Amino acid sequence: MTPEYQNLIQQVEYHNRRYYELDDPEISDAEYDGLFQSLLAYENEHPDEKVDYSPTQRVGGRVLSSFSEIQHVQPMLSLDNAFNEEEMRAFVERLQTRLKVTDFPVLVAEPKLDGLAISLRYEQGVLVYGATRGNGTVGEDVTHNIKTIRDIPLRLEFDDVPEVLEVRGEVFMPLAGFEALNQTREAQGEKLFANPRNAAAGSLRQLDSKVAAQRPLQMFCYGVGDVSISLGERYSDVLAQLAKWGFKTQPEMASLQSQKALNEYIQALQAKRETLPYEIDGIVFKLDSLQGQKEAGFTARAPRWAMAYKFPAQEVTTVLEAIDIQVGRTGALTPVARLAPVQVGGVIVSNATLHNRDEIEKKDVRVGDTVVVRRAGDVIPEVVRVVLGKRPEESVPYEFPEQCPVCGSDAVKDADKTVIRCSGGLFCDAQKWFSISHFVSKKGLDIQGLGEKVIKQLIDVGLVQHVNDLFTLKYDDLIQLDRMGEKSAQNLLNSVEKAKNTTFSRFIYALGIPEVGEVTAKTLAQAYGTAEALMNSNLDELVALPDIGEVVAQHVLNFLSEPHNQTIIEKLLSAGVRWEQVEPVEVSEDSPIAGKVMVITGKFSELSRTDIKARLEASGAKVTGSVSKKTDVVIAGVDAGSKLTKAQDLGVEIWDEQKLNEFI
Ligand code: IVH
Repeated sequence: MTPEYQNLIQQVEYHNRRYYELDDPEISDAEYDGLFQSLLAYENEHPDEKVDYSPTQRVGGRVLSSFSEIQHVQPMLSLDNAFNEEEMRAFVERLQTRLKVTDFPVLVAEPKLDGLAISLRYEQGVLVYGATRGNGTVGEDVTHNIKTIRDIPLRLEFDDVPEVLEVRGEVFMPLAGFEALNQTREAQGEKLFANPRNAAAGSLRQLDSKVAAQRPLQMFCYGVGDVSISLGERYSDVLAQLAKWGFKTQPEMASLQSQKALNEYIQALQAKRETLPYEIDGIVFKLDSLQGQKEAGFTARAPRWAMAYKFPAQEVTTVLEAIDIQVGRTGALTPVARLAPVQVGGVIVSNATLHNRDEIEKKDVRVGDTVVVRRAGDVIPEVVRVVLGKRPEESVPYEFPEQCPVCGSDAVKDADKTVIRCSGGLFCDAQKWFSISHFVSKKGLDIQGLGEKVIKQLIDVGLVQHVNDLFTLKYDDLIQLDRMGEKSAQNLLNSVEKAKNTTFSRFIYALGIPEVGEVTAKTLAQAYGTAEALMNSNLDELVALPDIGEVVAQHVLNFLSEPHNQTIIEKLLSAGVRWEQVEPVEVSEDSPIAGKVMVITGKFSELSRTDIKARLEASGAKVTGSVSKKTDVVIAGVDAGSKLTKAQDLGVEIWDEQKLNEFI
C-alpha cells in the first residue's frame, strides 16, 4: 500500500471518530468532504489497491460502549455528495443510464437537516425502540430519550398500520432552541455546544432521559427501513402515508420534473436557508419511483438513487487582529474577537464571540492567529479553533484582564462558573443602567416615578452616575428633563425622600449583588442588622446561614470588599438611607415551624408544590430546593426520589402527605 493511500485512510478514520464518536469534529464538514472525495478519487484511479477496510466501504464511526447496541434490520446508509449543478446533472445522467430512460426521472427534493439520523421501530403500532445510526449496521439504543421527543408518536392507532414499521429521519434542534440552550449554559458557566447538531447529539447521548426531555428536539422523517407491507409506489407516497400516521416530514419538500426545476430549487432554498428555523447543510434529491430505486441499487456506502447537494461552507479562516473585552449590563466580561473582515455564508463578518476566559484558554486563541470562524443561521459568529500551522512565531498566550476594562474594579470568576465578572456593580459604567433600575425597583428601594426612560435621561445628562446620586437630585435639575412637569418632579423628589426610610433587607436586595434575591437578602438582614456588620462578615459565617451556599457567599464577599462599592454604600448611608435596626419578624414565634428549613419533593394529590410552599412560608418556614444537613423537615409525596433518600441518609425528619394535611 502506498504511503499516500494509507495516510488518506488514516485521516478519514480519525475524523470519522471525532465526528461520530466524540461529537467533537476538528475540521469543517466541507474539509471532511474534501478529504473523503480525495480518498474516493484515489481508489477510483487505483482500483487494484483498494482495501476492504477502507472507510469508503463503511458508513461512519463505531458504537459507543455506554449504550446497548441495536442491530439495524436494514442498514442505515449515507449519501454521496455533489457540490455544484454539473455534478447534479451528472447524477441525473447516471440515473437515466441505469434506468435505461431518456426522460427526466421525477425526483423529490428535501432540505438536508443537520442533525442525527434515527431509526424508529414500531411493532403492532407500538414504538419498540429508537436507535442512532452508529456505524450503519449497529446503532445505539436511545429509546428512553427518543420517547421524550414530541414529534415522535409512541403508538400508531390506525387500522392500516403494518405489523412492522421502521421509520427513519433526522432528530435535530431548531436554532431558537439551540440559542436559548446555549444562553442558559453560558449563564450557568457550562460548556457551550458548538452547533445545533452537537447539541442534538449530546442530548440523545444522555443516559438520563430527563436531560433530553428538557432539550427542544424535533424529528423530520425521510424514509423507512424494514416494513412488512408496501406503503406505495413512490417515495412521496411513503412520506404522505407517514404524515397520515402522525410523523413530521420536511415542510420544504418538492417534486421536481426537470433539470431546470432542480436548479431553481437549489437557488430558492439557498436563498431561504438563512430564514429557516433550523440549520440545513444542503439538499437531498431522491428518485421518487420505488421501483426505480430498486433498479438503481446501492454502493457499499450510499444509495445510487439519491444525492446530497452540499451548500458552500459556513466556516472560513481569517486573521484575529485583536481581542476586546465587553462588559455586559450585569458585569460579565465577554471576550470578542476582532477579525480581518471575511465573507461567511454570504455575510461579511468582522467580529466573533470567544465566549469566556476558559474557552480562550482551551482553544489557546492568540492575537495574530489565523482562526476558523463559523456562522450558523442567526447564531453570532464564533471562533471555532486556531490554525496552528499559521501561528506567528512571536505569538504569546492571551492574558485575560484581571480588572474590569470599564471601571478598573477587580474582575473575579463566579465561584461555580466560567463567567468572569466585574465586581464593581454599584460603580461600573457598563452596569450603571442595570444597577440603578434594580436599586429603585419594587423589591428594592421602591422609588416610584423612576421608569426606564427617566433613568436613561438622568444618566445621559450626567445627573446620575451611581445610585447615591439619586439622593442629591434637585428640583431645578429635574425640571429641565424632557416631559418632566413640575408635579412629576416634585413627586419624584418625594418618593426619593420616602425611600430613604427602608428596611435592611430591601437595602441589601437593592445593591444588586449577583445571586442575592429577596430571600437571601432577608436572611442576611436578619443575621447582620447593620451594613457595617455585614461588610465585616466572612465566608464561614455566611455559609453557616440557612440557604446560603459557598457560591452566594463568595458573591457577597466579592461585592462588599470592592472599594468602589464600599464608597457608594457609605455615600448612601450619609445621604440618609436608613432602616429600623431590627428586621421585622412577620411570623408569630409560636408557629411550630417558624424558622424551620423545609424541602418539598414528590407529587401530592391535594395541593400543588407551589401552594404547599406558600402555606409553609406563611407559617414561617424556609422552603429550599435541596436537602442538606441544614434541612429540618422533608415533605415527601408520591414518587419522591433522591431527595427523600438523602433525607433518610441524613436522618432528617420526614412528613408524608397525611402529616402535611394535618398540619395545614
Ligand atoms: S436520506 C439512504 N434524507 O444526511 C438514505 N438523509 O449524509 C439515507 N440527512 O445519514 C438518508 N436530511 O443523517 C436523507 N432529507 C434527508 C436528510 C438526510 C439529513 C442526513 C442523514 C444521513 C446523512 C447522509
